[in-house]
Amino acid sequence: MNSEETGIGRRYLEETRYRRRSMGERSLAYPRAPLYKEYPEAAQRLSLAPEAGRLPADLWQAVAARRSQRNYVDRPLTPAELAALLWATQGMTGCMGGYHFRAAPSAGALYPVETYLAVHRVEGVTPGIWHFQVVDFALELVAAGDFRQDLAAAGLSQSFLGEAGAVFIWTGVLNRARWKYRERAVRYLFLDAGHICQNLMLAATALNLGVCPVGAFFDDEVERLVGVDQQDEVALYLASVGARI
Ligand SMILES: Cc1cc2nc3c(=O)[nH]c(=O)nc-3n(C[C@H](O)[C@H](O)[C@H](O)COP(=O)(O)O)c2cc1C
Repeated sequence: MNSEETGIGRRYLEETRYRRRSMGERSLAYPRAPLYKEYPEAAQRLSLAPEAGRLPADLWQAVAARRSQRNYVDRPLTPAELAALLWATQGMTGCMGGYHFRAAPSAGALYPVETYLAVHRVEGVTPGIWHFQVVDFALELVAAGDFRQDLAAAGLSQSFLGEAGAVFIWTGVLNRARWKYRERAVRYLFLDAGHICQNLMLAATALNLGVCPVGAFFDDEVERLVGVDQQDEVALYLASVGARI
């Protein structure tokens, strides 16, 4: 094997393969993390209406029109728009056999992805980093402040991350999925995040908002911004959202 074939990516794919003769390593055991996060001590809590802002739309038209948008106008987002986007990404849409299903699929219905929002310009909402508490459909303030420059810097100086009305920041809680899938869980974290982001893009397109997915960022800096311990929870993906030109 040349060095390209033994790189970390190739080794990860090799070691997390399901094969008929073995389902991967079984030695590591991980504890189960709670099914969702909440911040009961949050200085502010904002309840949103999950049904708000969900205007009728044509799915086929949204698929055809979806594009990564990096230019936004000054108009702030509205709480109703934010509610519609949060519902499309992580809204609870059904309950069966003890599982609470959400708008986007998740391996084993474990939902290891957490949603944070960097709110830059949303009508009536304190700028800062918020966490989305999925069960109550509420936002919890993690840190108030103007994080436009910090976020753009964390995103390899992609300035649109500071110009958007809000930026979705998705993290993965490792032990919410690893107890079941062990190291293979890491594949599923990114797959889950991809589904969530596509729902965001289609919903935003239907509302005539612009979205750009962002995979290029300094992981440590994003994790510090949302205040998570990278041993437990890692940055996966970002998406900026703003009103369109
Ligand atoms: C995993 C992933 C990571 C991406 N990261 C970035 C990024 O860091 N910056 C950016 O401007 N666009 C990013 N994009 C957007 C792509 O550039 C865009 O999807 C691609 O050019 C195709 O264009 P479209 O989305 O308009 O169809 C990313 C897209 C994906 C799926």
